[in-house]
Amino acid sequence: MKPSTYNLFSRYLHWLIAGLIIFMIILGWRLGDQDSSRLSRINLHKSVGILVLLLTFLRLGLRLVYPAPPEVPMAKWQAIAAKLLHIGFYVVMIAMPLTGWLMVSTSVRPIPFFGLLTVPHLPVPQSRAVHDVFEGVHDMIAKIIIFGMVPLHVAAALKHHFVDKDAVFNHMVSGLTPKPLLNWRWAIPLGTIALATGLGFFLFRAPAAKVADKASLTAPAPASQSAVPATPEPLATVSTSASKPAPVQITKWKVDKATGRIGFSTSFEGEAISGGFGQFEADIDFQPDQLAGSHVRVTIDLASVHSGDDDRDATLRNPSFFDTASATTAIFEARRFTKTTEGHFIAHGNLTLHGIKRPIDLPFSLKIDGKIATMSGQTALDRTAFGVGSGDYESTSSIPAKVAIDIHITAKAID
Ligand code: HEM
Ligand code: HEM
Repeated sequence: MKPSTYNLFSRYLHWLIAGLIIFMIILGWRLGDQDSSRLSRINLHKSVGILVLLLTFLRLGLRLVYPAPPEVPMAKWQAIAAKLLHIGFYVVMIAMPLTGWLMVSTSVRPIPFFGLLTVPHLPVPQSRAVHDVFEGVHDMIAKIIIFGMVPLHVAAALKHHFVDKDAVFNHMVSGLTPKPLLNWRWAIPLGTIALATGLGFFLFRAPAAKVADKASLTAPAPASQSAVPATPEPLATVSTSASKPAPVQITKWKVDKATGRIGFSTSFEGEAISGGFGQFEADIDFQPDQLAGSHVRVTIDLASVHSGDDDRDATLRNPSFFDTASATTAIFEARRFTKTTEGHFIAHGNLTLHGIKRPIDLPFSLKIDGKIATMSGQTALDRTAFGVGSGDYESTSSIPAKVAIDIHITAKAID
C-alpha cells in the first residue's frame, strides 16, 4: 500500500531545501551591496550553496528508495504539468549550485565550506569570460525559480488545497488536511518562507563600512613607519651652502598623463590583483643638481581606481577601502630628496590617504634626455597604516598588509 505522505526525511528535506534556496536567492541579490560584511555574505553563500547540492543528492536518493504518495485524481494535463515542474525543480536544485561552483572555479580563490574545509575547484578555464557566462546562467536560473517556478508551485499547492480540496498539501505536510483552515501545521510552509526571507534580507547586514575608525586614525604608525613629524620637514638634505641659498630656478615638468602609470599590486585570497589609478595631477619642480629646492606633489583621483573587474573596483571605492565618497583624493607630497647613485634618488614625502597622513620614502630612477624625463619608482605601502581594508577586508591573511606600488611617468620640461 502506498503511504499518504512523502516519508518524514523527504518532507523535512523538502522544506529545508526550499527555505535554503529562497534564502540563497535573496542573499545572492545582496552580494553586490557595498558594506563591510560583503565577504562574509559571499562565503556564506558559497557554503550554503554547496550544502544545497549535497542535500539535493540525499533528497534524490530518498526519492528513489521510498515510494511517493499516490497521485490524487486530477486532469491529465495537470498531472503532467505537476510532474514536469517537479522534475524541473530537481534540475535547478542541481544546476543552481553547480553553476555557482563552476563560476567560482574560474578564480584561484579558495571555495570555503563553513570554514570546515575548502571545496576543490572544478576543471574550468580560469578566465573572466568563462566566469561571466556561468554568472549569467546562475542569475537566469535564480530568476526562473523565484519568479516562475515557486509562484506556480505554491499556487498549484494552494489550489489543490482550497479549490480541489484534495490531499496534495498533505503529501508534504502530514496532517494538513484540506478541512480546517486553522491548523498549526501551516506554520511549516509559512515559517519556512518567512524565516528564509527574513534571514536572506537581514543576515550579515552591516552598516556601510566606516572610514578607518577613529581608533585606527589615531593609532600609532607601525614600527616600520615613523609618526608624522609635528614640525615641517627640512626642505632638503642637500643644501648648496651653509648660508641662505640664492633663489634658483628649478625645472618644472609637465607629466604625460596618457602614458603615466600609478599602479599597485596585491592579492586577495591567493589571487594576484594588479591595478592602478587612471586620473592624477602632478606638480613637479625637480632638478637633480638642485634637490634642495625640488618639490613634487601628486594628487590621485581615488575614484579612478581600476583593477580589471568593475565589481571589485566598486568595492575598492566603497567605505571598506578608499571611501571615495568622503575622501576623493590621495596626495603624495615630497620636499626632501636624496641621491643614492647616479640617476637614482629617494623622495622622502608624506602620503595622505583615507584621511591619514604618513611619511613615505619613494625610491626612483630618473633619466633625463634633453627635455624629456622618464621616472620609474617602486615602493611598498602598509595598507593597514592607512586604514585601507576594514570589516571583512581587514584580515591580512586574505589581503596582505604590504601593497606594492609601481610608478612610471614621462614628463616634459616646461620652458
Ligand atoms: C524553492 C522552493 C521549493 C522547491 C525547490 C520545491 C521542490 C519540490 C519538489 C522537487 C517536489 C516534488 C517532490 C517529489 O515528487 O519528489 C515538491 C513537492 C511539493 N511541494 Fe515544493 N518546493 C519548493 C517550495 C514549496 C513551497 C513554498 C510550497 C508550499 C507553500 C511547496 C509545496 C509542495 C507540495 C505540497 C508538494 C507535494 C506535491 C505533490 O505531492 O504532488 N513547495 N516540491
Ligand atoms: C541553491 C544554490 C544557489 C542559489 C539559489 C544562488 C543564487 C544566487 C543569486 C540569486 C545570485 C545573484 C545573481 C545576480 O544578481 O547576478 C548569486 C550570485 C552568486 N553566487 Fe550563487 N546561488 C547558489 C549557489 C552558489 C554556489 C554553490 C556558489 C559557489 C560555490 C555561488 C556563488 C555565487 C557568486 C560568486 C555570486 C556572485 C556573482 C557575481 O556577482 O560575481 N552560488 N547566487
